[in-house]
Amino acid sequence: EREDLPEVATPQALRPLLPKRPLTAHKGSVGRVGVLGGYRGDGLRYAGAPLLAALGAYRMGAGLVHLVLPEGTPLEPLEAVFHPVPAPALPPVKVEALAVGMGGGPWGKAWALEALKAGLPTVLDADALHLEVVALYRQAGVKAVLTPHAGEAGRLLGAPPEAVAQDPLAAARALAETTGLTVVLKGNPTVVAEGGRLSVNPTGNPVLATGGTGDVLAGAIAALLAAGLPPFDAARLAVYLHGLAGDLLAEERGVGLLAREVAEALPRARRALE
Ligand code: APR
Ligand code: MG
Repeated sequence: EREDLPEVATPQALRPLLPKRPLTAHKGSVGRVGVLGGYRGDGLRYAGAPLLAALGAYRMGAGLVHLVLPEGTPLEPLEAVFHPVPAPALPPVKVEALAVGMGGGPWGKAWALEALKAGLPTVLDADALHLEVVALYRQAGVKAVLTPHAGEAGRLLGAPPEAVAQDPLAAARALAETTGLTVVLKGNPTVVAEGGRLSVNPTGNPVLATGGTGDVLAGAIAALLAAGLPPFDAARLAVYLHGLAGDLLAEERGVGLLAREVAEALPRARRALE
């Protein structure tokens, strides 16, 4: 059976996918995102990860972000609504999409299972990426976008990360096939796969190789899901803009950027695409 040829994402193809911002828009109408992540058993080593996802969501245009975190997480003032919980749980928040797993460590699986109860379009990132979990999402018919890097994809496929990196198109295709979900295989290039469809991203550069840029991307995809985009479109548009933000920063400043700055540059990337 012959698969479709991969497409390269182009500005012409992506521009029409940008969510419109009508004059009457309000923060409850443009997409609300729930971010679930973090783990407190390791001294909160990755406490910043869910915060970066929240920033990614806001910078991609989310109207409101609810941040569900372990109790005791040191919180810096942020526009998000905080929901500290003693264990992975899904508080009653009004949102249209979720981003799950960032910094979740051993709580990653439980975060994903809690999130599944909402039945909302969900980005499963980092520690939420387990085969048992993705099988349950598929079974439930819940829209999900998986965002593994080569190591995480290798774990899901039972293949060494080197094999994934060597042929990312084949790996993304295989993972989309075995999971039945939308796959964003991150790296250079990042590849988005769903069903027989395959989109190769042309933006991004090695300046993005710094801790937290993946978390920003997870939040950005969730914002576009919350705005109503189908998973394949939300994924390829967010990946393109995230890479373009990295390209703008690489041009201006070069190596040494912070993940939060990639989030900060997302609006400029969006304007460049408009
Ligand atoms: N060229 C283009 N893009 C790149 C490059 C490169 N050479 N290197 C990295 N990137 C991009 C990737 O495509 C992806 O969008 O930067 C992002 C990195 O995402 P991750 O690999 O998920 O890294 P990040 O999440 O920021 O790292 C922190 O990830 O795997 C978890 O638990 C791990 O705590 C860790 C966390
Ligand atoms: Mg990551």
